[in-house]
This record gives sequence, C-alpha cells and structure tokens, in this order.
Amino acid sequence: MNNREQWGSRIGFILAASGSAVGLGNIWKYPHMAGENGGAAFTVIYLICILIVGLPIVIAEFVIGRKTQLSPVGAFKALAPNTNWKFVGVLGVCAAFVILSFYGVVGGWTLRYTMLSLFGGFVKFSGNPELAGGQFKSFISNPINPVFWQIIFMTLTTMVIVKGVKGGIEKWAKIMMPAILVILGVLMFRGLTLPNGTKALEFLFLPKFEDLTASSIVLALGHAFFTLSLGMGTMITYGSYLSRDQNLLTSALWVILLDTVIAIMAGVAIFATVFALGANPDSGPGLIFVALPTIFPQIAGGTLWGALFFFLLFMAALTSAISILEVITAYFIDEKDWSREKATVTFGSFVTIVGIFCSMSMGGFNDFNTIFNISFFDFLDYLSSKYMLPIGGMLTALFILMKWGVDDFIRELVTGMENKNIDPFVVKVLFIISALVVGFIISNEIIAIITGNPIVG
Ligand code: PHE
Repeated sequence: MNNREQWGSRIGFILAASGSAVGLGNIWKYPHMAGENGGAAFTVIYLICILIVGLPIVIAEFVIGRKTQLSPVGAFKALAPNTNWKFVGVLGVCAAFVILSFYGVVGGWTLRYTMLSLFGGFVKFSGNPELAGGQFKSFISNPINPVFWQIIFMTLTTMVIVKGVKGGIEKWAKIMMPAILVILGVLMFRGLTLPNGTKALEFLFLPKFEDLTASSIVLALGHAFFTLSLGMGTMITYGSYLSRDQNLLTSALWVILLDTVIAIMAGVAIFATVFALGANPDSGPGLIFVALPTIFPQIAGGTLWGALFFFLLFMAALTSAISILEVITAYFIDEKDWSREKATVTFGSFVTIVGIFCSMSMGGFNDFNTIFNISFFDFLDYLSSKYMLPIGGMLTALFILMKWGVDDFIRELVTGMENKNIDPFVVKVLFIISALVVGFIISNEIIAIITGNPIVG
C-alpha cells in the first residue's frame, strides 16, 4: 500500500483537481444554461449552490480519499467494513462509465471544431445560423466522422493516464490549466472590447429575479455537482494520492474558486461576443457549436480566435475526461490488482465502444431512440447528471453523518491544517443541509416522473 503513487506537489494536486472540475460543464453547459434561464438570476443561484452543497462535499471527498489512500470502493470498504456503504463507491465507478461514454463524444466534437476553424471552415457560416446549425447536425449525426474524432480524444485520454499520477495526470494538468486560463483571459478581453461587449456583464451579473423559475433552481443545483465533478468519487480518487501534510480546506477552496472563475470568464467571453454581433443569448446547447461559428468570422482575426476557443474547450474536456477514466483505472488497480496499463487500455477501449453507440444515436442508430423516446446520448447525460451524481453526493454526506462520524472526519480534516478548531456542530449542519437539499431535488424529479407534476418546477 505504501508504494501508492503520490502527487509531486501541492500546486500539481490543485491543478489536477481543478482540471477535473473545469470542463465542458463550465464552458459549454454553464453559458447556455445561464442564457436560457435569465442570465444573472441563474448565476446567483448557481453560486449559492456551489457554496452550500459543493464546498462541503468536495471537502468530504478529499478527506475520505486521503484518510484511506484508496479509490472509492476500497475507501468505503475501509471506513465501513462489511457494510453496504461500498455500493456508494460502486455507483461512482458506474457513473464514470456512463459519463465518459458521452463526454468522449463531445470531446471529439471540440477537436473537429478546432480544426474546422483553423482551416477557415467557419467563414461560410458568417451571420448564417441556419447553415451553421445544419452542418453541425449533419456532422454529429454522421456515423463515421464524429466517431473518428472521438477515438482520437479517447486515445489521448488513455495515453495520459497510462503515464500515471505524477508523470501523466499532474504533468498535463500543469501545462493545460495555465494555458486554459491564459486563452480564456485573452478571449474575454477580446469580447469585452467589441462594441456592446460589456452588455454581457449586465446580462450575467444584474439579476432580474422574475426570470427565475423553480425548475431553473433545480437545474442550477444539479449543475453544481456536475461542474465540481462530485458524487462519483473523482475527488476521493484524487485525494487518495495526497500525503498527510496538506491543508484540505484551502485546497478545496482553490478548486472551487478556479472552477467558478473559469465558468464566469467563459460566460463573459461568450456573451460579450454574442451581444456584440446581435446573436441570440438563449440559443441553447447549440450556443457554442452553432452560434459562435457564425460570429467568429465577423471579427478581425476570427479564424484564430475560433480555433483558440475550441482548442481551449478541448483541453478543458481532456483534463476532465482524464479524471473520469482515472476513477475506473484506480478501482481495477486497488481492488483487482490489475496493472495501470492493463486497466487503462482495457477500459479506455470499452468506454470508447459504448461512446460509439452514443455518437451513432444522434442519427445512424435509432432503435434505442424509438423504444425509449430519448436518444442514448441524452439518456446517459440525464442518468448521470440528474440522478447518479446527486445521489452519490447525498450518500457521501449521509455516510459521514451516520456511519463514519463527524468527529473522526474532523480529525482527518485538521491533519495538515494550522487552525485545528473546527466546530463539529457547524460541520454537522452543513452536511445535513447539503443532504437535505439534494434529497429534495431528487424526490422532486422522481415525483415529477411518476405523477407528471413536480412539487416545484
Ligand atoms: N466537472 C466536469 C465538467 O464540468 C465533468 C465531470 C463530472 C468530471 C464528473 C468528472 C466527474 O465538465
């Protein structure tokens, strides 16, 4: 057990964990969700959720991982031997399979759009959303083209993980995270200096609460889990490569800060561009793949800005995909004694194959869609972000409250901290609130599915 790999430095760990958090959720999902749900009103609720639910659960996962030095299944087994709590870990490994299958597909799209922009492919889309939308649809529903890019994306993910924690995950996070920040900073500046660009700030930060509906509150909560990579043991796994001398509270705060700042920077960069060129802020999931390609050719140097934007999105997706595959890899290393190479290559390939069906469900492969009335792609997305992650997060909070014990939890948390006075009452209240909030969202969803009428929303 003592030859477990460790992070090389504190900053390396923080960058790897925030690399996991910062991904398609920040740059693709958050801006379009805010766009469709009143802008600032959504942002405010999202920030509150991050603080109330996100922060306690990030800390909980880091603490469980560092204490046990094991990935999720082993970690729950070690803290609660011979109980069913290990199934929280099993749920996490299953969620990793589900998420990575569709995440790898979108990761492939980002690579293809980087190339498209770089070689001038956006020029003909200039000011023509119908053409851009039609081409996007025909690309994602093509049976071969997106699969080709998805395989490249998944191969890159696998290649990084094979190199291990320090030589692979940490090394690449240290390169890609600063690159993401710099590119996003430049794009934000470019957006804000366009005429009308500053309207984006008003849109994202000046709340009009009448825009907010109950269902957007539920959406903001679910998104808080997805964007912070919570509820499936990613942060337990990353925490398990930590030594005992780190302050987990400040590390968690750093991860949350970077994740939030990057989401907001992406929102500002995208909406500034959208407003400057008079495009529609609420164009939904196509905001990035359809609206932006019509806008980039209209600004000076647009080919380059477009390519930089999609390359940034690709890097963000890659550092997240790495953390998802690492949960699966670590499970087979810790629990089944597999070698890192064998686990990564086997499951990297397996997930890629499931992802191919997911990509084909956008057009080529329709049986699933007709039977269940939803594409396989959307099914995997909903299953994981609406149910598996929030349930996993809620069970993690309940595990600390009901099984492990708040006192033992605090004892591990303060190891590596200078100020050791943490009030158990406050900790209990925070975990109770996060478990209740999540329990409420999930019950609301389930009631909505069964009766057709949610309690709120
Ligand atoms: N947090 C990532 C994003 O925002 C997605 C993710 C979810 C990564 C769950 C790991 C685990 O894109």
